[in-house]
Amino acid sequence: MRSMTSKELRQLYLDFFVSKGHVVIPSASLIPENDPTVLFTTAGMHPLVPYLMGETHPEGKRLVDVQKCVRTGDIDEVGDASHCTFFEMLGNWSLGDYFKKESIAYSWEFLTSPDCLGIDPNLLYFTCFEGDENAPRDTVAHDCWVSQGVDPSHIVYLPKKNNWWGPAGMTGPCGPDTEIFYDTGKPVCGPDCKAGCDCGKYLEIWNNVFMEYNKTAEGAFEPLAQKNVDTGMGLDRTVATLQGVGSVYDTDAFSGIIASIAALSGKQYGKSDEITRMFRIIADHIRCATFMLGDQRGITPSNVDQGYILRRLIRRAIRFAMQLDIPDGSLTQIADAVIAQYGGFYHELADNREKILDELTKEEQRFEHALKKGIREFERLVGTLEGDTIDGVSAFHLYDTFGFPLELTQELAAERTLKVDASGFDEAFKAHQELSHAGAEQRFQGGLADHTEETARLHTATHLLQAALRHVLNSDEVAQKGSNITAERLRFDFSFPRKLTPEELAAVEAFVNEAIAQDVEVLCEEMTVDEARESGAIGLFESKYGSKVKVYTVPGFSREICGGPHAARTGELGSFKIKKEEASSAGVRRIKAVLTHA
Ligand code: ALA
Repeated sequence: MRSMTSKELRQLYLDFFVSKGHVVIPSASLIPENDPTVLFTTAGMHPLVPYLMGETHPEGKRLVDVQKCVRTGDIDEVGDASHCTFFEMLGNWSLGDYFKKESIAYSWEFLTSPDCLGIDPNLLYFTCFEGDENAPRDTVAHDCWVSQGVDPSHIVYLPKKNNWWGPAGMTGPCGPDTEIFYDTGKPVCGPDCKAGCDCGKYLEIWNNVFMEYNKTAEGAFEPLAQKNVDTGMGLDRTVATLQGVGSVYDTDAFSGIIASIAALSGKQYGKSDEITRMFRIIADHIRCATFMLGDQRGITPSNVDQGYILRRLIRRAIRFAMQLDIPDGSLTQIADAVIAQYGGFYHELADNREKILDELTKEEQRFEHALKKGIREFERLVGTLEGDTIDGVSAFHLYDTFGFPLELTQELAAERTLKVDASGFDEAFKAHQELSHAGAEQRFQGGLADHTEETARLHTATHLLQAALRHVLNSDEVAQKGSNITAERLRFDFSFPRKLTPEELAAVEAFVNEAIAQDVEVLCEEMTVDEARESGAIGLFESKYGSKVKVYTVPGFSREICGGPHAARTGELGSFKIKKEEASSAGVRRIKAVLTHA
């Protein structure tokens, strides 16, 4: 097996699939656009859903990428050897091109070839879908592994729970998968221990999903128009395996970050389990927060949606930093270590460095303020206390609202010879966790990617709205800051320093309705990013130099880089009406609007 750094593995993976005819596409934003079902990109497939459903991708049918992902459902588990909130997923994609045979052959070659990872084939194990009423047993995947030389005793069939992938409980593209495991050499946990067992003996390193079904809102599995392959390999986890370390936190990716925490705290990573855990939590949370703040569609801490998750991460990191005696205001130095590690590949981090550091500093100051308020709440609580024990729900309220860790409440209580009902706290905590487990990211359950005609119409209306704002406000400074579409309405955030007047709003509506009245055809062209920019298209130029993008044009009105889908003609949109215009955050306005049909 070849040891290598994270940077080397990233490059090796991309180069390997380029040699197999794939085109490298850049990581999409962590913040999904026009997808109201998730707060963050949780897998490489999210930004590609339209193409899995059959839209043509401008770069072709074979793609390879490294996608930034965030999953915060297990935030309280972070600190052990493997959980992280942020991760990078290596993925290769066939959009209606190759299927099981080639996918499995590529994976096998990449894993075992001495020029690639060079893993001993005897240490690899595989699982395949056993079949049920929706789809047959995947003997094809099984036989493909065997024809690569895999001993059938290394392959097991498992049910849907293990070997089916589609975003949890959601609609959209999905299918059976085959998962690849590495035998860590640990002893089996019992007679039934086999690939798929979560005791730690078999480590999942790659998942190849054969997306050939669309799960409908009614729960049926319809064949998709095309058969796709979506694979996902966790970068950190694979690097940990190759480097022979027991934890992703012990790989080269984290070494600079851990070193900065050690320097700031004067403590030694690994000294005790408790210190190790605190180091890891800080490292994970600041890495994730840095990526969120520095994202091309960057967010800032707030009390709702993505901003709330970001706030939780930063405040949790501060709490543990306090426990490690890291001086106030030092998070920026840890963020700088993250930028040093990742800024070369994710240029947005280096480009947005100032914003990242500035927002972290501001959030630290706000948290200090909240802690002071929390102390006052604690005093009030003590003033009304009957007996000598603070109940669990009150302790949890201090934790949840003011960011007080239980230990802090216990310390303050001990100073007054009071106790805290710690098991009551645990109960309140668990009840809360169950609620948030229902999916921190997936709080807006529904269709993963809503490709109804209404969505397409609202999407086209969003382009017209942006063009109208630039026209009416006579400003190229109006830039998109966010967009979100549900079945009923569009929401558009844009940079602008003040409230719009009623006259301006009326003019914006009139502009959009004029474009609709003219019933012009919506055109789609594919071109390079530079051609798009030169042609006057607006939009996020996040793709790498030379890569191809789609440009949607409403002739005479709007020209924008975008993945689609859109209405075919503006006449399909009906009548455009602004429902609300308000501040979204400093320097950013938010418009909600609807389309009504005559
Ligand atoms: N989409 C698949 C996963 O996330 C590859 O595991």
